Amino acid sequence: MREKTMENVIVLENVTKDYTLSGNRIRALDKLNFAVPTAVMVAVIGPSGSGKSTLLNIIGALDRPDSGKVFIQDRDVGGLSEADLTAHRRKTVGFVFQDYGLIPNLTALENVMLPMEFAKVTRSEALERARALLNAVELGVRTAHRPNKLSGGEQQRVAIARALANDPAIILADEPTGNLDTATGKGVVTLLRRLADERHKTIIVVTHDASVARSTDKRFHIQDGRIRETT
Ligand SMILES: Nc1ncnc2c1ncn2[C@@H]1O[C@H](COP(=O)(O)OP(=O)(O)O)[C@@H](O)[C@H]1O
Ligand SMILES: [Mg+2]
Repeated sequence: MREKTMENVIVLENVTKDYTLSGNRIRALDKLNFAVPTAVMVAVIGPSGSGKSTLLNIIGALDRPDSGKVFIQDRDVGGLSEADLTAHRRKTVGFVFQDYGLIPNLTALENVMLPMEFAKVTRSEALERARALLNAVELGVRTAHRPNKLSGGEQQRVAIARALANDPAIILADEPTGNLDTATGKGVVTLLRRLADERHKTIIVVTHDASVARSTDKRFHIQDGRIRETT
């Protein structure tokens, strides 16, 4: 297909996803077409229930479309075996959530090491990388803290470090500033921005916040399972 080039790290073609809830069919994504270039930060904006999280879950292969195609780095995700899908989830995408999603009884350092342990990285290498990532998010002095000893902004920076653990090409952030005050949220967005600019990550940020959307390279509006680029 025309759009399927390495310039677009993410390409969705005619993706439809239905859910059935107590006998009712809900069309979460409706023949959606979406392409995101490498090392670009985009915002996805839309009302509650418009399909934003479904879109991220399909890009991250946590969910499969009912029809349509998903290409990530030119690979047809629909054609991957279970083993390749697991590797895709671990190594190609990193997720960041509104509620941070850290494991409460693990330290910041252990939280960042966890995805590397799943990916069979040696302990010494995981330790070294986790320390470097926590330094990069300016939490080098908080490595031994558990999440409940960290502020919301600090927890989200740990979550971003964890998302980077296996050096994925893509970061998917679902309302990452939703629980943060404006100033702290700005810090998180600046950090994501730097990942696109300095580490060439492709970043998708789902947001309700117009100021977040203004700081991205592109903006998309999603409604009723359809998406279009806006200014
Ligand atoms: N697991 C599910 N089971 C049933 N319906 C779902 C499920 N996940 C999402 N939906 C429905 O799909 C639509 C899109 O949901 P979602 O992608 O979570 O929207 P958003 O993130 O924009 O709020 C909504 O109508 C939602 O209720
Ligand atoms: Mg959502």
